[in-house]
Amino acid sequence: MEKRAYRFQQSHICILGLTCAFIWLCLLYLNNGVFEAKIIQNSISLQINSSSNNKTDPCGGRYVYVYDLPSRFNEDMITECERNIKWLDMCKFTMNGGFGPKLKNSEDVLTVLSDHGWYATNHFNVEVIFYNRIKRYECLTNDSSMAAAVFVPFFLGFDFARYIEGFNVSVRDAGTIELVDWLQKRDEWKVMNGKDHFLVGGRPTWDFRRKTDNDTDWGNKFFFSPAAKNMSFLLVESSPYSLNDFAIPYPTYFHPATDFEVFDWQDRMRKMERKWLFCFAGAPRPRDPYSIRSRLIDQCKNSRVGKLLDCGDDESKCHLPSNVMRLFQSSVFCLQPVGDSYTRRSAFDSILAGCIPVFFHPGSFYTQYTWHVPGNYTKYSVFISNDDIRKNVSIEQRLGEIDPKTIKMMREEVISLIPRLIYADPYSKLETLEDAFDISLKAVIRKVTKLRQDMIDGRTDDNLVEEDSWKYALLEQGNYAGVREWDSFFPKP
Ligand SMILES: *[C@@H]1O[C@H](CO)[C@@H](O)[C@H](O)[C@H]1NC(C)=O
Ligand SMILES: *[C@@H]1O[C@H](CO)[C@@H](O)[C@H](O)[C@H]1NC(C)=O
Ligand SMILES: *[C@@H]1O[C@H](CO)[C@@H](O)[C@H](O)[C@H]1NC(C)=O
Ligand SMILES: *[C@@H]1O[C@H](CO)[C@@H](O)[C@H](O)[C@H]1NC(C)=O
Ligand SMILES: *[C@@H]1O[C@H](CO)[C@@H](O)[C@H](O)[C@H]1NC(C)=O
Ligand SMILES: *[C@@H]1O[C@H](CO)[C@@H](O)[C@H](O)[C@H]1NC(C)=O
Ligand SMILES: *[C@@H]1O[C@H](CO)[C@@H](O)[C@H](O)[C@H]1NC(C)=O
Ligand SMILES: *[C@@H]1O[C@H](CO)[C@@H](O)[C@H](O)[C@H]1NC(C)=O
Repeated sequence: MEKRAYRFQQSHICILGLTCAFIWLCLLYLNNGVFEAKIIQNSISLQINSSSNNKTDPCGGRYVYVYDLPSRFNEDMITECERNIKWLDMCKFTMNGGFGPKLKNSEDVLTVLSDHGWYATNHFNVEVIFYNRIKRYECLTNDSSMAAAVFVPFFLGFDFARYIEGFNVSVRDAGTIELVDWLQKRDEWKVMNGKDHFLVGGRPTWDFRRKTDNDTDWGNKFFFSPAAKNMSFLLVESSPYSLNDFAIPYPTYFHPATDFEVFDWQDRMRKMERKWLFCFAGAPRPRDPYSIRSRLIDQCKNSRVGKLLDCGDDESKCHLPSNVMRLFQSSVFCLQPVGDSYTRRSAFDSILAGCIPVFFHPGSFYTQYTWHVPGNYTKYSVFISNDDIRKNVSIEQRLGEIDPKTIKMMREEVISLIPRLIYADPYSKLETLEDAFDISLKAVIRKVTKLRQDMIDGRTDDNLVEEDSWKYALLEQGNYAGVREWDSFFPKP
C-alpha cells in the first residue's frame, strides 16, 4: 500500500495519492488504534506535502524545526560564563558566534595563516557554532509537522562544564533532568517520542554517561535516561557502542566566509615546503600505562626527520594556533595518538594544514567521522596500531617506505577534505562548498527520515546490537576491512 502511494506521488498524481493515504489511514486507525495512526498521519502528510512541493519548494523534505527553548537552557549559560567555568577561561571563546577572539593580523599570523577567517577557537564550542549556523539555515519552519527533524538548542557541553568539579551528582544532573521534563510535555515530542529530535554537544560522549550516583564519578548521566535513548546526539566524539551517537568534526581555527578563501588556503597547503617527515604536538600521559605517547615522543626526539612540539612542560605553547599550524604545515605526516579519550582536535588541525594524519586506534577517527570522510581510510591517512608502537616499530621506517607518488596522492585527498571538516562563517555561507555543518545536518535529516519511514512501514530495528554500532557505521560507508579487523580495539563493554 505504502509503495503504491509513493509511486503515485512520484508521478505527481497527488489527488490519487491523498485518497490512497486516506484509505490507508482509515485501515490503520481500525487496526492499530488512535496512537499509531496519529504518528503515521503526521508523517504521511509530511511526505505528501514535501514531495508534492518538491518541484517548487527547494526545502521539501529538509525543513528543520528549532525549539524556542527558555534561555536558561542555552544563552544564559554563556552570559553566566564568568561564574560558571572555574577550571578554564572559556568565556572569551564564546564570542564571535562561538569562534572565539579573532586572531590578530600580526606578521606571525600572516606568514602561517591567511589574512581572513582565523580565530582562537576553543574546540568545545561546536554547540555554540552549530546553534548560530542553524539559526540561519535556509529551511527552518515554525510548523513542526512540516519538519524532517527537530533541533533542541540545549548547550549540552556548557551544562556539563559549569558543574564539572566540586559539585554533587544531583547538581550535575539537574539541568538535563529539567530539559527532559520540558521536552516531554511538548506536542512535538509526542509525535515520534522524541525520535526525530537531535542535540549537539562539544564534548566527548563519555561526559554524559556516568554509570553510578557516586559523587566521585565523572559527569552526568543524561544519556542513560529513557528520553535521551530516543534522541540523536551529534558530538565531537561518539561512543562506538551506541546507535544514537554520531561524531561531528572538532572545530579548527579556520572559519572562512567564501569559497575563494577555502580554495586559496588549499592552494597554499599544496605548495608548502615540508621539511619534517613526521611530527607530534602533545604531552605524555605518564599516569596511563597503556599510553603510547611517551614512545612517540622518544621516536620524534631520536629521529633526524621527526619533530616534537612538547606540550608537557608548557601547555600554552600548544594552544598558540600559529605554533601548531606552523609545525603541521612543515610536516608530511602528523602523529595522532589517543589522548584522554579516543579522539583529538589535533587531527583536524593536521588535515587543515595538509599534513597526512597517522592514527594508532581506529576509534580516533575511522569509526567516528563516517559522515564526513571516505570509508577507505588508506586514501587520506596511515594506520599503525598501538601494539606495533609497543613492539618498537620504527615510525621513521614505516613512513619512509611510502613512495613519494603515493604521498602526493594522499596529501591531495587530505587537502580535498578540508571544506567538509571546517565550520564556515555563519554570517556568509560558502557559495558552493558544503562544510561540516551542512554535511552533519543533511546526515541527521537522512537518518530521521529513514527512521520515520521505518515506523510507517512497521519495520523495527530490534535486531541491531548497540555494542556493534561502530560496525554499522563502517558498513554504511563500505569500510568492510575495518569491520573484519578491528574487533580487538573495541572490547564489548
Ligand atoms: C525530491 O524528491 C526526490 C524523489 O522523490 C527525493 O529523492 C529528493 O530528496 C526530494 N528533494 C527534496 C529537497 O526533498
Ligand atoms: C517563526 O516564528 C518567529 C516568531 O513569530 C518568527 O520570528 C520567525 O521568523 C518564524 N520563522 C519562520 C521560519 O517562519
Ligand atoms: C499539507 O499541506 C496542506 C495543503 O497545503 C495543509 O493543509 C496541511 O496542513 C499540510 N500538512 C502538514 C502536515 O503540514
Ligand atoms: C548537593 O549540593 C547542593 C548545593 O551544592 C546541596 O544544596 C544539596 O543538598 C546537595 N545534595 C546532596 C544529595 O548532597
Ligand atoms: C565512591 O567511590 C569512591 C572512590 O572510587 C569509593 O571509595 C567509595 O566507596 C564509593 N562510594 C560508594 C557509596 O560506592
Ligand atoms: C521512547 O520511544 C519508545 C517507543 O519506541 C516509547 O515507548 C518510549 O515511551 C519513549 N520514551 C520516552 C521517554 O518518550
Ligand atoms: C583504497 O584506496 C587505495 C588507495 O587509493 C586503493 O589502492 C585501494 O584499492 C582502495 N581499497 C578499496 C577497498 O577500495
Ligand atoms: C627500540 O628501537 C631503537 C632503535 O630502533 C633502539 O635503540 C631501542 O633500544 C629499542 N627499544 C626497545 C625498548 O626495544
